[in-house]
Amino acid sequence: MCGIFGMIGQNAVKTTLDSLRYLEYRGYDSAGIAVKRKEGLEWTKCMGRISELQKKAQGMAESDIAIGHTRWATHGRVCEQNAHPFVSEDGAFAIVHNGILENYLELKKELPNVHFSSQTDSETVAHMLSAVYRGDVLEAVLAVAKKLQGSFAIAIMSVYDNKLYAVKNKSPLVVGVSRNGTYLCSDVGCASRQAEQVALAEDNTVAVLSDKGVRFFDFDGQERRAKFFVAEQSAELQTEEGDVMLKEIFEIPQKIRASRQGYLQSGGLRLSDEEARRLKRIYLVGCGTAYNSGSQVACVARNFLDIDILPVIASEFIYDNYPVGEDTLAFLISQSGETADTLRAAEKIRHSGGITYAVTNNACGSLGFLCDYVSNVCAGAEFAVASTKAYNCQLVTLTLLLADIAVSRKTLSVQVRKDILCGLEEVAVASEQLLTDVYPLVRLAEELKKCSAVFYIGRLSDYPTACEGSLKLKEISYIHSEAYPAGELKHGTLALMEEGVAVIALATDEAMAGKIAYSVTEVVSRGARVISVGHAFPEAENIPLPKVHPYLADIISVIPLQLLAYYTAKSLSRDVDKPRNLAKSVTVE
Ligand code: AGP
Ligand code: GLU
Repeated sequence: MCGIFGMIGQNAVKTTLDSLRYLEYRGYDSAGIAVKRKEGLEWTKCMGRISELQKKAQGMAESDIAIGHTRWATHGRVCEQNAHPFVSEDGAFAIVHNGILENYLELKKELPNVHFSSQTDSETVAHMLSAVYRGDVLEAVLAVAKKLQGSFAIAIMSVYDNKLYAVKNKSPLVVGVSRNGTYLCSDVGCASRQAEQVALAEDNTVAVLSDKGVRFFDFDGQERRAKFFVAEQSAELQTEEGDVMLKEIFEIPQKIRASRQGYLQSGGLRLSDEEARRLKRIYLVGCGTAYNSGSQVACVARNFLDIDILPVIASEFIYDNYPVGEDTLAFLISQSGETADTLRAAEKIRHSGGITYAVTNNACGSLGFLCDYVSNVCAGAEFAVASTKAYNCQLVTLTLLLADIAVSRKTLSVQVRKDILCGLEEVAVASEQLLTDVYPLVRLAEELKKCSAVFYIGRLSDYPTACEGSLKLKEISYIHSEAYPAGELKHGTLALMEEGVAVIALATDEAMAGKIAYSVTEVVSRGARVISVGHAFPEAENIPLPKVHPYLADIISVIPLQLLAYYTAKSLSRDVDKPRNLAKSVTVE
């Protein structure tokens, strides 16, 4: 995944290191920086976070040209040798790369005499540049760009001029300009912290940055135009003490209100009644938590919509043959708006003539630019890798969007739609209530941390909530966890029930409580311990939930699960905000 940054301007070292911290959400296993000096290129890299790199680069003198990288390894393990930047053997070219070079093994064969110092795909580019250089850097960059296959945003500096070059295909590349300098970067939010105007580079572009500005070329060297715009200022990084994830969970009530308000103020559903009536199917596409929110809302919307509503995992959608036509609407759900799988799915749907509708927490992200329509979920910037408040807000926005489609199709009355809107205020109040006394959850977390595995079960719309609770627990506590529709347990997983295993049973729907009761008895009699959320069962400890509108119950039932995951991980002394092997935004397929 990785984040890249590069700039020409004063205090390039300080600004690059500072910007890399902002890009840490894209990866944080190792990092590096290279600068240009009169005497040549200088670079430093290390394993770990940007704070480590900042310490290591403390003695580095300032420069007017720098490139930097924060890594999430795809090729080669996490170690200093595999950290970027990579420098050609002659010391003439330094590069940083975000993406995957699919043909790097073939390209390496064209460099038989080169000694590679890393196991990465990226290093190849530095050596290729030096091999093809014949006195003109742009020519060398274009020659190399033409040979690359895969996804890449590569920043290049050389000893031969005072420019930076960037090559882009499928990985995001934002270029910015201001009175103080020119910049390149992996995302708009980070670029706009420095640049007054930014532009998104198209695929197959080479950008050339100098102290005078930026020029764009296609891979044949033909000059291209790019549209510069003023980007919204992004939220600053959290610098307060304490875990960001917990802070973000506590923001949920306020953000539920903001999402409701934001939806209404932005004019709600962007489709006309006519467009909504023509629809034959709706896909809800996303990854991880975003997929769970789509899956959750699909269950609810099947109560009031008369067409096929299907949640699909974005990485599956890209390669499967789901029908798409003019009568297809796809909600592309993504907190970051930068998730590669979701972007690819959006491209596929557009290409097949479907309507694409981004539901994102980052209106400046790539997804918003790609889709026909955008709804901002208004959760406010989310920094913890484990997504929490964005999930609750995605549920708010998606429920309103689907309710509005149903009103247009006359399958939901205006009165029920009003009830949903009013119900959201009750949901905000109920979530405040759930957050006032967290002590029972802290106590339960002390027990969960000793479990060998934790299973989450639920039926209908409680099942996606179970999936979300399970995802949260495994990603930050590293305890093995799975989620199942409760009725599925007896088809195999029951074999795993024994002492030391916990089952969290979601039971928000009273009509289904009887069915969940069977599952509770089945697992308790095999030695597992059960915690129920919502309905209370005699054999289980219970986390009660305040009553809200049934279509909105899942916005609050997930909150105890988010807290349980947090407190369990905390009591295991995990790095809650930046769990191992993960990144906030997954920008590779
Ligand atoms: C959530 O806790 C995860 N870290 C992850 O599943 C995330 O939701 C997923 O990668 C999708 O991200 P997006 O919403 O930014 O597209
Ligand atoms: N493939 C490169 C590496 O493993 C870059 C990874 C990425 O951008 O995700 O270092």
